[in-house]
Amino acid sequence: MTRPHDTWAEIYDLAYEQEFGAYYGYLTEQTLEVVGSLVSPGADIVDFGAGTGRLATPLAGAGHRVVAVEPSASMLERLRDPPQGPPVQRVCCAMQDFSSPARFDLALCVFTVVIYLLDEAALDAAMARAAACLRPGGRLLLDVPLRAAFRDRRASTDMLSREVTVELASGALFDYRERIVVHQGALSGTYEDAFRLRNWPTQLVLSAASRCGLQVQQDLTHLFAGTGAEYFVLYKA
Ligand SMILES: C[S@@+](CC[C@H](N)C(=O)[O-])C[C@H]1O[C@@H](n2cnc3c(N)ncnc32)[C@H](O)[C@@H]1O
Repeated sequence: MTRPHDTWAEIYDLAYEQEFGAYYGYLTEQTLEVVGSLVSPGADIVDFGAGTGRLATPLAGAGHRVVAVEPSASMLERLRDPPQGPPVQRVCCAMQDFSSPARFDLALCVFTVVIYLLDEAALDAAMARAAACLRPGGRLLLDVPLRAAFRDRRASTDMLSREVTVELASGALFDYRERIVVHQGALSGTYEDAFRLRNWPTQLVLSAASRCGLQVQQDLTHLFAGTGAEYFVLYKA
């Protein structure tokens, strides 16, 4: 079965770096800084929807024990261990299917992961799994993209052109289409993908989390201006 991102995993990082330039690096640094403020050295961190390890790899490099949970095997294949620090443990599954006897100090569900959950059963299950794998006192860093983020985008650089279309399908469901043409180097070619996303009202996501025992501790949206998403730290009592 093909998962979102499978067809363009090898150019995923390149596509975002090229489209967003320095802002993408800034966003990564900002997220790592927030994580650093939430955990002590050597923490246990689970990264839901870890992608190619944008956050998981540097967090392991900083000495944390990181489990990367990612349903796209192609994305997970691109995830690299840091040169120093513990290797990242990879688990190829969706957030809502994750279970582990391990308990974590922090769970990450960031950079639009929540919008890949298409119905309330998946949302509820994802929040329940996140809550279940946290230690008491553990936290979840979560972003919820706003309606304005569901829009068409185009970008063109010397290296590639990228076209994203986001079309309302029905209700809160959107059809997302990706077309990237890489003009240079060994990765030259055309990459396409299409999948569905859901625009969740923030309150609905926070209510689902609350039912699982995760309460909002901090609203960090102001630190992530420009992402088109609200960012929250949720706390497990
Ligand atoms: C835009 S990427 C973000 C990757 C990473 N979190 C980051 O910050 O760079 C979204 C990721 O969520 C993954 N994903 C999709 N559905 C998911 C699910 N049900 N559970 C966990 N991850 C999912 C996708 O495969 C993709 O790698």
